[in-house]
Amino acid sequence: MARVYLYSRFLRLYHWLQALLVMSLLVTGFEVHGTIHWLGFERASDYHRVAAWSLLVLLALAWFWHITTGEWKQYIPSPLDRLLAMVRYYGLGIFKGEPHPFHKDRWHRHNPLQRMAYLSLHILIGPLLWISGLVYIAYPYWQRLGLDGLSLAPVALLHTAGAFLMLAFLCVHLYLALTTSEQTLGFLKGMVTGYEEVDNAQAGDPH
Ligand code: HEM
Ligand code: HEM
Repeated sequence: MARVYLYSRFLRLYHWLQALLVMSLLVTGFEVHGTIHWLGFERASDYHRVAAWSLLVLLALAWFWHITTGEWKQYIPSPLDRLLAMVRYYGLGIFKGEPHPFHKDRWHRHNPLQRMAYLSLHILIGPLLWISGLVYIAYPYWQRLGLDGLSLAPVALLHTAGAFLMLAFLCVHLYLALTTSEQTLGFLKGMVTGYEEVDNAQAGDPH
């Protein structure tokens, strides 16, 4: 086995802060929605706004980091045959002990399914939440902005749809991140220390 440095310090800090903020936004958001009853509406709404602004600052830093370091290239979708090989592996191969069809290195951290999942998180689910969230937060100023003809209902609906998509992402993400590593909690350890144990044969071969 080789120990490979996959997750830089900034990436880990950003990942865990984002995880914390997104989970608090899910809890407070669903309290505002009326699904959970824990903090009370007023407090949930206040905390939701603080976490939302913090997430926006973090996302701005993260986008800047992805663009300036070239890390964004790690989310470019893979060709269809590699994607299908991963689907086959998770559906069948993994249960038969077949070798993993994808090999990681520092500049190819994500398998084809992760690339797709993380890309849709960054360019679909994330923006759906923060754009609708910003429009929502600006509600008291809609009249001044000439938007008084617009109803709040579709904005709330889009924002809530984004919240459900984020919840679905989190469930699948947790299941895959915590159960599919060959070492017990291997990916979790990697996301904490930065290092992951990779097969020697795989260390130099990105695909
Ligand atoms: C992971 C991110 C987020 C999740 C899961 C989330 C979830 C939710 C949910 C479920 C609601 C209740 C919607 C309703 O029933 O009308 C809500 C309300 C709201 N959200 Fe978010 N949200 C997130 C991010 C944001 C962001 C980034 C902003 C602002 C930039 C924002 C601003 C708001 C506002 C203004 C409300 C209305 C309630 C209030 O006045 O406090 N949210 N959110
Ligand atoms: C909703 C909150 C979360 C979001 C948005 C999120 C997002 C992400 C993203 C984008 C990556 C890829 C990072 C990269 O290599 O570029 C990642 C990796 C990872 N995440 Fe999360 N994460 C969340 C919560 C969590 C939680 C709560 C855990 C564990 C308790 C976790 C464990 C991991 C692990 C182990 C990895 C590395 C292995 C892998 O890529 O599957 N995440 N996460």
